[in-house]
Amino acid sequence: MRSVADQSVAELGGRISVLSRQKSDHVRLDQLLHRLRESSHEEQLPALLELYRLVFPHAFAEESVLWPVMRRVLPDGEELTLQVEQEHQEVNELVTRLEDLELGSPERQAALERLDEVLREDVRDEEDELFPRLQERVSERELRLLGIAWEVVSRVAPTRAHPIVARRPPGNVIAALPLSVLDRSRDRLDAIRLRGAGSAEGALHAVTDALTRAAHAIEHSPAMRHGEDPSTRVDGKPGVPWGLLGGALVAAVAVPIVLSRRRGRRRRAS
Ligand SMILES: [Fe+2]
Ligand SMILES: [Fe+2]
Repeated sequence: MRSVADQSVAELGGRISVLSRQKSDHVRLDQLLHRLRESSHEEQLPALLELYRLVFPHAFAEESVLWPVMRRVLPDGEELTLQVEQEHQEVNELVTRLEDLELGSPERQAALERLDEVLREDVRDEEDELFPRLQERVSERELRLLGIAWEVVSRVAPTRAHPIVARRPPGNVIAALPLSVLDRSRDRLDAIRLRGAGSAEGALHAVTDALTRAAHAIEHSPAMRHGEDPSTRVDGKPGVPWGLLGGALVAAVAVPIVLSRRRGRRRRAS
């Protein structure tokens, strides 16, 4: 078995093959991990947000599109995919912990180092073992079709850590739409805040905070934990605060519109 890392694009089934797409995302991941390691405290948040936008949709599409195929075509698919699901689970838990750890603290530094380590282990497991095994079992045409499905799903997938949600269908698929809307709203608001929101900073902070809490709360809905292997399960109290969720969603849509209108008015006035 040859690692995907040592194969050319043609050997992987062409540019649209899922293996080529995976490999190029893994190269990008390596660059982002380097950037994160070199970041000052102020640069750490934007570097992490960029890393999340790559890692979480990428892993979500693996869990919902690729691993079910691996379980179908390989006799030991269950065991192989469970190992990478456990790595993904650890990434989700580490990132959730980072939200509460103080910038520059030794605990945060340790969590960042472990995050780097697990992400690299995940890439090695996939490129050296899982993907060459998949390559033996499916045709190049199927690799290309899987590439298209994987790409489509990763473009609409959640972009933040969700440790409570199942790492397997059907739970993760049910969770995708509501969590993706919340996560991508948070991404938009965080991008505005990083550029500088001036007097609106307080309001934006409150909305992103509400979106974060709503996303964490919605994860506990039993439907979203359906299909989970016990080894990747995290317990927590159930219940979805629909009022908080509705308010957060309205605010997430309204605030960027108000801000961009304000910016437009300011531009016209100057
Ligand atoms: Fe991957
Ligand atoms: Fe992965």
